[in-house]
Amino acid sequence: MAVHGNPFSEEINDRHTFNGNDPENPSLSALADEVRTGLARTPKRLSSRFFYDAEGSRIFQEIMHLPEYYLTRSEYEIISQQKEEMLRLFERPGEAFELIELGAGDGLKTKVLLEHFRQRQARFTYVPIDISADALDQLTRDLRGRWPDLAVEPLHDDYFRALETLSSRSEARKVVLFLGSNIGNFSEKEAIDFYRRLYAKLRPGDLVLTGIDLRKHPAVIQAAYNDRQGLTRAFNLNLLRRINRELEGEFDLSAFSHYEIYNPETGEARSYLVSEKKQDVRIGRLGLTVSFAYGEVIHTEISRKYNRTEIRRLAEATGFTPTAWFTDCREYFVDVVFERDAERRPGERRPGERRPGDDSEGPDR
Ligand code: AVI
Repeated sequence: MAVHGNPFSEEINDRHTFNGNDPENPSLSALADEVRTGLARTPKRLSSRFFYDAEGSRIFQEIMHLPEYYLTRSEYEIISQQKEEMLRLFERPGEAFELIELGAGDGLKTKVLLEHFRQRQARFTYVPIDISADALDQLTRDLRGRWPDLAVEPLHDDYFRALETLSSRSEARKVVLFLGSNIGNFSEKEAIDFYRRLYAKLRPGDLVLTGIDLRKHPAVIQAAYNDRQGLTRAFNLNLLRRINRELEGEFDLSAFSHYEIYNPETGEARSYLVSEKKQDVRIGRLGLTVSFAYGEVIHTEISRKYNRTEIRRLAEATGFTPTAWFTDCREYFVDVVFERDAERRPGERRPGERRPGDDSEGPDR
């Protein structure tokens, strides 16, 4: 099959050696689907969801410590300095709550919260949810070793199935943590879908603490995704290495470069892999050969930055009210508390309703 009619043409052979559906290995099937469909599009696209194999996760841990990557440090500052205010919002007198984290990670920031909540003798259970059993096991072992009295109940599942399990299992207030600007890797539509699905799994009064990277001077953002050590470049290129390993791809990594562009009008930082020459790349397990023109790109990631108006709009469109805004001293990042509204159509305001934070949450950039 040849795809023409655009400045970048590609040829894809139809000799399938792997149909993309391997019930033994769902993540391999998902990668195969992504490569097959994403590299047939114009422009070519591969989702950043596939960045996180073992090596990608390791590189991301290093990125979080880079001087240019302000996001992690900003959120760490927020949590360290405002953990007591957070606890006051999460606790209701005489009630225990469930602190549910979407994506376990290494829990560095969450550990600050957990330690504080323990010291304050808060009644809560920590429920990390992740589709990676390894990440969950490692985190759980670490937490149990550190604080044997802490109630930790990991759930190895898809986020929404896990939330379903939790809501059928107990009526305790749910406080969901969705930290680290993970929301930034969603398109606008994906973000709305995600919060609507969360709304459906939660009860009125449940909370979602969302970490969101704010708009700021474009040069600061641009630098965060173009670090001088080249770690972001390695992170992006690792996707091709993963395809080589898992799908018998023959990408020559030295023939692709990392390109990042931040658009201050849309708030989107976009990452691309750029073909540095005209080339054909074979992907053995899929029986494909994909052609690249010189300068042709594969779009790999969106890291979206929000302003406060956009955050309020997202909440309104999905049935949540932003009830508290925690920022760092530079106002680079915000941890917003979204409270799940009582049943009403998402987006609908009560008559004459003023929302907390309507004009008190700081400048809109
Ligand atoms: C995981 N995610 C929020 C990171 C981000 O900032 O979009 C991933 C990342 N991409 C490049 N650097 C870090």
